[in-house]
Amino acid sequence: MLTTNTKIMSAAIAGGYAVGAFNISNLETLWAITEAAVEENSPAIVGVTPSAIKYGGLRHLAEIVKVSAESISQPMSLHLDHGKDLETVRDCIDVGFTSVMIDASHLKFEENMALTKEVVSLAHSRGVSVEAELGRLVGIEEGVVEEREAFFTNPEEAEEFVQRTDIDALAIAIGTAHGPYKSRIEPKLDFTRLKAIKDRIKDTLIVLHGASSVPPWIIEKATKYGAELSGAKGIPEVQITKAISLGVSKINIDTDLRLAFTGAVREALATSPKAYDPRSFLNQARDTMKEVVKGKMRLFGSSSRAT
Ligand code: G3H
Ligand code: 13P
Ligand code: ZN
Repeated sequence: MLTTNTKIMSAAIAGGYAVGAFNISNLETLWAITEAAVEENSPAIVGVTPSAIKYGGLRHLAEIVKVSAESISQPMSLHLDHGKDLETVRDCIDVGFTSVMIDASHLKFEENMALTKEVVSLAHSRGVSVEAELGRLVGIEEGVVEEREAFFTNPEEAEEFVQRTDIDALAIAIGTAHGPYKSRIEPKLDFTRLKAIKDRIKDTLIVLHGASSVPPWIIEKATKYGAELSGAKGIPEVQITKAISLGVSKINIDTDLRLAFTGAVREALATSPKAYDPRSFLNQARDTMKEVVKGKMRLFGSSSRAT
């Protein structure tokens, strides 16, 4: 059933769990998420980024997600991830996205707020949920931990931001990062900051980006069949569950699915030299991603929560 992020996340907050937002740019990944949602009886958020749109085409991607969502009874939303401008947001709403993110976190506070307000006014008039970002996710290339903390979300600014923009959900920076190389040392999320943000923004929903755990079994499989991923490190699962207990209700996952897909394809091609039908190895990629998504649904507590 196609629905909005706000409906999915409000139910999650009330039920004390979080929902995974899984990014797609192809059919196999969407099927993995859809089958996992059905088998786990879990809600799911399907994310599409501007670069996924460039790769797969806006209408093509929107239509396949809508077909999936409408063919299952579990709540599923179609969400623009990291939208950068009003034009992209408008195009996505026009083809049926039920939720949009405007990521103006690279802009100055007032500019971020001004663009976010424009998105809220457009999206809310069309019944579409809005997520915005304050603070910036920075990876290991951006310096040592103390330097990266300068980019973390400021709780007082967060309060002002949500009050003045009327967004539905806020993506925060508390120590996660995009991609498979999140930290040289064991990542440690700033839970004190998360608590302070939650206290100040109250009912505004909280989103954690860059939350892949980069599980060793995926890295081992990919590496065994030729991948070079040394130094890959994700967010430990216990820290994800702690973040959920402190009020995070949407958790973005892309890297773990990419790694699972690539590892499975590498293995299938290496072990079946005569394979030439792409379906034979894409099926294995789909099954491996499905297992990853199901694991996330159990970890986030969204399994059996579809209503
Ligand atoms: O934050 C989102 C992604 O993990 C990066 O996605 O390569 O489709 O822009 P992208
Ligand atoms: P990961 O790179 O940790 O999977 O994060 C994905 C994300 O935040 C997409 O918006
Ligand atoms: Zn993200």
